[in-house]
Amino acid sequence: MFANRLVPILVWIATAFTTVQGARAEVPRENFGKTADGKAVEIFTLKNPAGMIARVMTRGATLVELHVPDRDGKFADVVLGFDDVSGYESDRNQYFGCTTGRVCNRIAKGRFTLAGKEYELAINNPPNHLHGGAERSLDKVLWEAEPFEGKSTRGVRFRYTSPDGEEGYPGTLKLLVTYTLQDDNALRIDYEATTDKATPVNLTNHAYFNLSGHGAETVLDHVLQIAADRYTPADDTLIPTGEIEPVEGTPLDFRKPTVIGERIEQLTDTAALGYDHNFVLNNSEGTLAVAAVLREPKSGRVLTLLTTDIGLQLYSGNFLTGQTGKGGRTYKHRSAVCLEDQHHPDSVNHPEFPSTVIKPGPPYRKTALYKFTTEK
Ligand code: GLA
Repeated sequence: MFANRLVPILVWIATAFTTVQGARAEVPRENFGKTADGKAVEIFTLKNPAGMIARVMTRGATLVELHVPDRDGKFADVVLGFDDVSGYESDRNQYFGCTTGRVCNRIAKGRFTLAGKEYELAINNPPNHLHGGAERSLDKVLWEAEPFEGKSTRGVRFRYTSPDGEEGYPGTLKLLVTYTLQDDNALRIDYEATTDKATPVNLTNHAYFNLSGHGAETVLDHVLQIAADRYTPADDTLIPTGEIEPVEGTPLDFRKPTVIGERIEQLTDTAALGYDHNFVLNNSEGTLAVAAVLREPKSGRVLTLLTTDIGLQLYSGNFLTGQTGKGGRTYKHRSAVCLEDQHHPDSVNHPEFPSTVIKPGPPYRKTALYKFTTEK
């Protein structure tokens, strides 16, 4: 009697379990290894019907792989990264693919004043603070992850609560970073943050792109266009002077598609060592608009970056040292380019710049869309 009832119950449980598993199987969730202090890191694989793949992991809510087709339908992984967590924890990692913050880019001398109180942050890029700090910046912490699927999308929601005072910043900051791979070969990143105290926030993703495939010799042959008439000149430590100048007549004029290597040597002997500059985008804040278009003529791959943000840091991989990355490939000097959508560096010390300070109340929100196409 009991056994007769048990069988259908077991069948029902098994069916329900398989259905849940089946639904989840669309976004596979795997172990990516452990951190040096023994915590498990997970990686998720997002794949769309066209075959485009994005892999994202819980350490730093990081984009680890991004496979996109060329004009003949041949796929290549176009972002720099490592095969395991220890690679990301090593000094070979220069913020590859991570979510960067709480405040990306530099804060002068690691100091700012908010509501009459002075705050001191780690000086991890002497004499300045860089990318949210030394130990517990957003690229280094483990995020909670929840995969999801939509009608023509699949993705992962990453959550992290940064406690009040973490890396010296005020306020408990609740963060949500959502990666969504769309059917139309676009990877979307939505950012959201709320706080219980006024605090500066400037989030970006630090993916290093080479549209020939990671580990290709150089990015100097890529053609770049940036929708910016102006930029923020900086001092010798890459802190903005506060002025906003036209790009016209400078090597920063990418208003028309221009080969990255064409004028870069004019900047080699500057503090930036190449391109490491912040552009003032022509779009207005909150409107998803094209910020940059990156083309690689041989493969025909084209990346169009759209953002709701107001600025873009163009960084031409000047500090890459030839370190070994995924699959044993070598990441040479200037073999990748970062297109980091963000507010202007050191805005917290520049009242003349659009503010990066968020307050308790409506969340900070921004969206970036990395759209991949090909051309002949
Ligand atoms: C940013 C900075 C660069 C460099 C890289 C990381 O893009 O602007 O100067 O620090 O990050 O190596």
